[in-house]
Amino acid sequence: MSSRRRLRVGVVAYACVASAVSVCAEKPFGVVPHPDNSGHVDPGIALPDSRHPFFPSRAGTDGRKVTAQDFDLPEVCGACHMDTYKQWKGSMHSNAWTDPVYRAALNFMSKASKGKTDNFCMACHTPIGVVTHEATPGGKGMSEVANRGVQCEVCHNISRTSGIGNGSFVLTPKLHGRPLKFGPYKDAVSPYHDTAYSKLHTQSEFCGDCHDVTHPFNRLPIERTYSEWRDSTYASEGVQCQDCHMKSVRGRTTAVSKNRERIYTHYFVGGNALVPRLLGSEVHAQQAEAMLRSAATVKITAPARMVVGPNVIQVRVTNVGAGHKLPTGFPEGREMWLDFKVLDARNAEVYRLGAVRNGRTEPDTKSFKVVLGDRHGNVVDLNILDADRVLYDTRIEPRGSQEATYLFDVPPGAVGPLKLVADLNYWSFSQALLDELMGKDAPRTHITRMATATASAQLKSR
Ligand code: HEC
Ligand code: HEC
Ligand code: HEC
Ligand code: HEC
Ligand code: HEC
Repeated sequence: MSSRRRLRVGVVAYACVASAVSVCAEKPFGVVPHPDNSGHVDPGIALPDSRHPFFPSRAGTDGRKVTAQDFDLPEVCGACHMDTYKQWKGSMHSNAWTDPVYRAALNFMSKASKGKTDNFCMACHTPIGVVTHEATPGGKGMSEVANRGVQCEVCHNISRTSGIGNGSFVLTPKLHGRPLKFGPYKDAVSPYHDTAYSKLHTQSEFCGDCHDVTHPFNRLPIERTYSEWRDSTYASEGVQCQDCHMKSVRGRTTAVSKNRERIYTHYFVGGNALVPRLLGSEVHAQQAEAMLRSAATVKITAPARMVVGPNVIQVRVTNVGAGHKLPTGFPEGREMWLDFKVLDARNAEVYRLGAVRNGRTEPDTKSFKVVLGDRHGNVVDLNILDADRVLYDTRIEPRGSQEATYLFDVPPGAVGPLKLVADLNYWSFSQALLDELMGKDAPRTHITRMATATASAQLKSR
C-alpha cells in the first residue's frame, strides 16, 4: 500500500468516526469547478471598455457598424402603420431630441462636463444619432432619422438588452442585409421587412433600458421609474408599463392586416403637458392632463366644528393610478404639491399654504419631490454630475399614501361657516428652473390640477 493510499483511507475513517450521524464520505471533500454566477447582478453603469463603445452610455449594436442608411424615417413606417404613426407623432418620444428644455439641459451639462457626459445624455434621447456617431449637443449636420428622437426605428430595432438602465439597448436594424423589426407577434408577415417575435417588447424591462438613469460615475440613482415599478405590487400582478402607457384596443396594424384582439396604442403620455403643447400637439397635452388626473385622490379630515384660535386639519393624498412613485422621472423638475386654503363665509382667506412665489412653491409647502445633493449637502438642481446623494424623497409609493398636517390659527374676525379647499397640483418644471435653464427663451410653465377635495366646518367662537 502506497503511503498516499494509506493517508486517504485514514482521512475517510476519521470522517466516519467524527460524524455523529452515520454518513461516511466515499470521496474526500474538495474544490469543484463551478461557472461564475455573479453576472445577474446588473452593474447599472457602463465601463470604459469594448463592451460599451458609446461610454458612458450602455447603448450598443453588438459590434456591428451601423449608418443612417440602415434606418427609415417614421413617415415610411407610417405609410402602412397609419394609426400608430399618428399616435406617436407629438408624443414625448417623438420630441425626445427636439425638446427645447432637454436641449438647454444637454448644452448646460456638455459645458459643465467638458463633453464627458455627451454620449450619456444623447443615447436615450437620440439613440440613432449616437450609434451612427452623428450626434453632437449642437445637433449640426445630423441625419433626419436621428433628429426624430425615440422613433419607430429605435424601439423596433431593439434586439436585446444588456441590463437595465443607462441606455442598455442593443440596436439591430438589419440582419443578413434585410430590414428586421422586432415586435409582439409570432405570426406577423410584412411586405416591407422581416419580423421577429420579441417577448421583451411586451415587458417593462424593455422600457427599463431608458427609464432607469444612474449617475454614470458614482451610481447615484437619478431616475428610477423602472425600479420603482419593479418593487411595486403592479409588477407582482403582471401589470406592465405598456398596459398603462400603451393601452390596447381591438384593431388592425395596417389597413390590410387582420383584425387582432389587441394592438397597442403609441401615445406614450405621462405628465408632460407643457412640451407637447409647445411643439404643437394639443392631443398629447390633453391626454397627459387626463393621465395626471387619474393618478391621485385627495381627502380632507376636519372636525365638524372649528374654533377661533388653533386648529389641526389633515389632508391625505393617495397614489391610486401610477405604477411607480408619484411623481416619477426627471428629478430636477417633476413636482406635485398641495395648495391648501381655508376661506370664511365672505370668501376671505383665513389660511393658505402651497402658493407659487418667485417661480417656486412657497417654503414649507407640502410638496412631493425628490431632491438630490452634492458632497457638501447642497441642493443640486442642474449639474447632475455633482450629485452624490438623495437629500430627501417625499414622492408617494405606488398605491401608497401620505398625510399632511396643517396647524393654523383662525383669526377672531372670521365669519363661519369655513370652507376648506385642498388642490393637488403638478408641474413638469418650476418656472424658476425653466428661467435658470433657458433665460429669456424660457416658456411659461404649466400647472395641472390633478385633484381637489373640499370640506366645510362650522365656526365656534370661544
Ligand atoms: C418607445 C418605443 C416604441 C416606439 C417609439 C414605437 N413603438 Fe411600436 N411598439 C412598441 C412596443 C413596446 C410594442 C408592443 C406592445 C405590447 O405588445 O405590449 C409595439 C407594437 C407595435 C406594433 C405591433 C402592433 C401593436 O400596436 O401592438 C407595430 C406595428 C408597431 N409597434 C409599429 C410602430 C411604428 C410604425 C412606430 C413609429 C410610428 C412605433 N411602433 C414606435 C414600442 C414602440
Ligand atoms: C408596406 C407596408 C409596411 C411598411 C412600409 C412597414 N410595415 Fe411594418 N408591418 C407591415 C405588415 C403588413 C405587418 C404585419 C401586421 C400584422 O400581422 O398584424 C407589419 C408588422 C410590423 C411589426 C410587428 C412585428 C411583430 O412580429 O410583432 C412591427 C413592429 C412593424 N411592422 C414595424 C414597422 C416599422 C418600424 C416600419 C418602418 C421602418 C414598418 N413596420 C414599415 C407592413 C409594413
Ligand atoms: C398602473 C398604471 C401605470 C403603470 C404600470 C406605469 N405607469 Fe407610468 N404613469 C402612470 C400615470 C397615471 C402617470 C401620470 C402621473 C405621474 O406623472 O406619475 C404616469 C407617468 C409616467 C411618466 C411621467 C413622469 C412624471 O411624473 O412626470 C413616465 C416617464 C412613466 N409614467 C413611465 C412609466 C414606465 C417606464 C413604466 C414601467 C416601468 C410605467 N410608467 C408604469 C401610470 C402607470
Ligand atoms: C430608447 C430609449 C427609450 C425607450 C426604450 C423608452 N423610452 Fe420612454 N422616453 C424616453 C425619453 C428620452 C423620454 C423623454 C423625452 C423628453 O422629455 O425630452 C421618454 C418619455 C416617455 C414618456 C413621457 C413622459 C412625460 O413626462 O410625459 C412616457 C410616458 C414614456 N416615455 C413611456 C415609455 C414606455 C411605457 C416605454 C416602454 C414601452 C418607453 N417609454 C420606452 C426614452 C425611452
Ligand atoms: C437612460 C436614459 C437617459 C439618459 C442617460 C438621460 N436621459 Fe434625460 N430623460 C430620459 C427619460 C426616460 C426622460 C423622461 C422622464 C420623465 O418624463 O420624467 C428624460 C427626461 C429628461 C428631461 C426632461 C425633458 C422634458 O421636457 O420633460 C431633461 C431636461 C433631460 N432628460 C436631460 C438629460 C440630460 C442633460 C442627460 C445627461 C446628463 C440625460 N437627460 C440623460 C432618459 C435619459
